[in-house]
Amino acid sequence: MRVLSGMQPSGQLHLGNYFGSMLPNLQHQGKAEQSFYFIADLHALTSIQDPKLLRQLRKDIILDYLASGFDPEKAILYFQSDIPEHTELMWILATIAPMGLLERAVSYKEKVEKGISATVGLFSYPVLMAADILLYDANLVPVGKDQKQHLEMTRDLAIKFNSTFGETFVVPDVQIREEVAVVPGTDGQKMSKSYGNTIPIFGDEKVIKKAIMGIVTDSRGATDPKDPETCVTYRIHKLFLSAADAKELADRYREGLSYGDAKKLLLQAYLDHFAPLRERRLELEGKPEYVQEVLRKGTQKASVVAQKTMERVRKATGLR
Ligand code: ADP
Ligand code: TRP
Repeated sequence: MRVLSGMQPSGQLHLGNYFGSMLPNLQHQGKAEQSFYFIADLHALTSIQDPKLLRQLRKDIILDYLASGFDPEKAILYFQSDIPEHTELMWILATIAPMGLLERAVSYKEKVEKGISATVGLFSYPVLMAADILLYDANLVPVGKDQKQHLEMTRDLAIKFNSTFGETFVVPDVQIREEVAVVPGTDGQKMSKSYGNTIPIFGDEKVIKKAIMGIVTDSRGATDPKDPETCVTYRIHKLFLSAADAKELADRYREGLSYGDAKKLLLQAYLDHFAPLRERRLELEGKPEYVQEVLRKGTQKASVVAQKTMERVRKATGLR
């Protein structure tokens, strides 16, 4: 079994990314025969055209991964742009990708509506994503619901390529993380950097405190009973707790825990959970050679697999 997951370096990591994507993905390390984690920096170019910013985000996300529990003994970490086979395979897949398939992509339309430029790159985003996956013969690609359609497109392209040129690609299984709830932001909508409602995981402590203290609440009085399930503070706090502890906290809300106290408890839970990670991240900031070495090894291992697949593709298509 080969597991693969990718993350765009497109902004400061927040609780939604952490609980919705990074943590569940990192749990595959060591269980699968091989696990690939890559930073989709070529994808990020569809929305970030500021070289200074992209450079910073690339640096940050590697530290985020390492501090959040990526284990170089168990898994492979690399930048998409360090393996040229991604773009080579993308072109070949683009030549068999039906326009109609891409035109149905919901995320393209959503991104254009949000103001991202409607470029050929953004339109072809799912083809690059298919290349990211098929290059490594990944059987399992765990993603959130928002990526389901992209994964289905990857399967369609693999099947079409195999039927056109002969068996070449492993058709990957999609694993949707149904168990991971959508993490609400401080305003109650889905937490997302595009809504400005995030709680970062590695940011300045003052910013985090302000974000937590600013979570929306209803107008219930301090000692009134509260409904935990409709309360954003509780829904975020629950992510840090075992089922038994979450139930106990819910009872306190029903007994009239004040929103101010509830937020202080959440802040404490946040700090307890992330303190060791933040400490580790600081430590890693002072060890650039170690970080470079992890990346160098990861890139080397990924490159071997990618080159083998491309040889198969070149032979199958007649490019060799
Ligand atoms: P953003 O919405 O902040 O731009 P991304 O779309 O870059 O975040 O998120 C990367 C991944 O993190 C997504 O594919 C999704 O799986 C996960 N994710 C992001 N926000 C949330 C959330 N609020 N709840 C659960 N998972 C999330
Ligand atoms: N599109 C994914 C996201 O925005 C990131 C990504 C790029 C990815 N290539 C991938 C995820 C391949 C899984 C597999 O979250």
